[in-house]
Amino acid sequence: MNIYMAEERVSIYRGLKNVYVAESKICLIDHERGKIYYYGYDLDELAQKSSYEEVLYLLLHGRLPTRREFQEFLDRIRGSMRLDPEVLEVMKRVPKDIDMMEALRTVVSYMGNLRSRGPEYTREDVVDYTIDLVAKMPSIIGGLYRMWRGEEPLEPREDLSLAANLLYLITGREYDERDVRGLDMSLILYAEHGMNASTFAAVVVASTGSDYYSSIVAGIGALRGPLHGYANTGALEQFLEIGDPSNVERWFKENIESRKRRLIGFGHRLYRIHDPRAKHYRRWLEENRERFDEETRRVYETAMKLYEVAMNSFLTEKGIYPNCDYWSALLYYVLKLPKEVYTPIFAMSRIAGWSSHIAEYREDNILIRPKAYYIGERDKKYVPLDER
Ligand code: ACO
Repeated sequence: MNIYMAEERVSIYRGLKNVYVAESKICLIDHERGKIYYYGYDLDELAQKSSYEEVLYLLLHGRLPTRREFQEFLDRIRGSMRLDPEVLEVMKRVPKDIDMMEALRTVVSYMGNLRSRGPEYTREDVVDYTIDLVAKMPSIIGGLYRMWRGEEPLEPREDLSLAANLLYLITGREYDERDVRGLDMSLILYAEHGMNASTFAAVVVASTGSDYYSSIVAGIGALRGPLHGYANTGALEQFLEIGDPSNVERWFKENIESRKRRLIGFGHRLYRIHDPRAKHYRRWLEENRERFDEETRRVYETAMKLYEVAMNSFLTEKGIYPNCDYWSALLYYVLKLPKEVYTPIFAMSRIAGWSSHIAEYREDNILIRPKAYYIGERDKKYVPLDER
């Protein structure tokens, strides 16, 4: 939108669409060709060949580790998995009827009270903070879920990866290797995605010279919104609300075609094509389909029918295609994860991206401070309280 103020021409970029706020070497998103690269590495290849732990190393250090470096990195993760008793106390106290993202925000904020070295921190400190936080995340997510159901939290297992620990600490079960691989792939795909809303929120806080944990709490707050990370929870709620493939057409007409609601899990600020991360989820779902039980199959078929109906609707004319949250919701449902943990899992993964951007931005910091163009009244007379 262009408007005029006196002699000056003012441009307003609503939602900061197409505005670049920094240079970055972390993530290239080629939204026309549908390609994503982390530090120059093709995400399609990372999703198939790497692990979340290795991608975390890449995003923190800007390069892949040698075998020895990776072993040391894994040892540091394993050594940081256990929660402090004070953190467990805070987890016990957060109300059970709030959303887990809001509980996570409180717990991470409290962890900052125990760990933070204040606003003066180096890139090495970011690496330390991130390892500590990400390593504890499966225990926090699993612990909150279990405590809210009146169960004891489980101890993290050093013989399991972060993805396997997540599954174990939430459900108490050890999963099939194919399932662990599915979740690990999802953590890789969620780890970083340029200057998205939650990363920007984290970077804005970092730009003021604030402490690391305040930035991460800002990121969690932004990710909790349904237009951003909460869309994976919202997508599952939609599938469950529809209930059966036979209800899809009516539901779509009443809710989406009528413009009453937005289809959650569809649309993206950057893509007017398929989200490049989607194909990896779809391949996993296709390859594991014969293992689905009856209930899972019904939800899967409902989601696939909804996808088909949406792809033949007005949405594609507008360039609205499914985003990664549509498919991650389905993967997590197939893995029998409770919906409370969907967005917290996204947050755990994205701490990698947030931390990477915080460290990079601080190396050439400038306070982020945009303007709002004033359109309100002017020169109003103040009337004392008694005379109003
Ligand atoms: N369902 C129905 N209509 C949609 C949807 C949708 N999911 N997404 C966009 N539209 C429509 C808008 O109503 C608008 O229509 P109009 O031209 O008639 O006014 C048009 O498409 C363009 O929409 P914008 O809001 O300008 O697109 P924007 O880039 O701002 O929005 C967003 C992107 C917020 C993600 C949007 O697509 C949306 O609300 N999607 C649903 C929530 C969701 O899935 N979010 C997750 C995003 S991915 C992530 O954060 C990890």
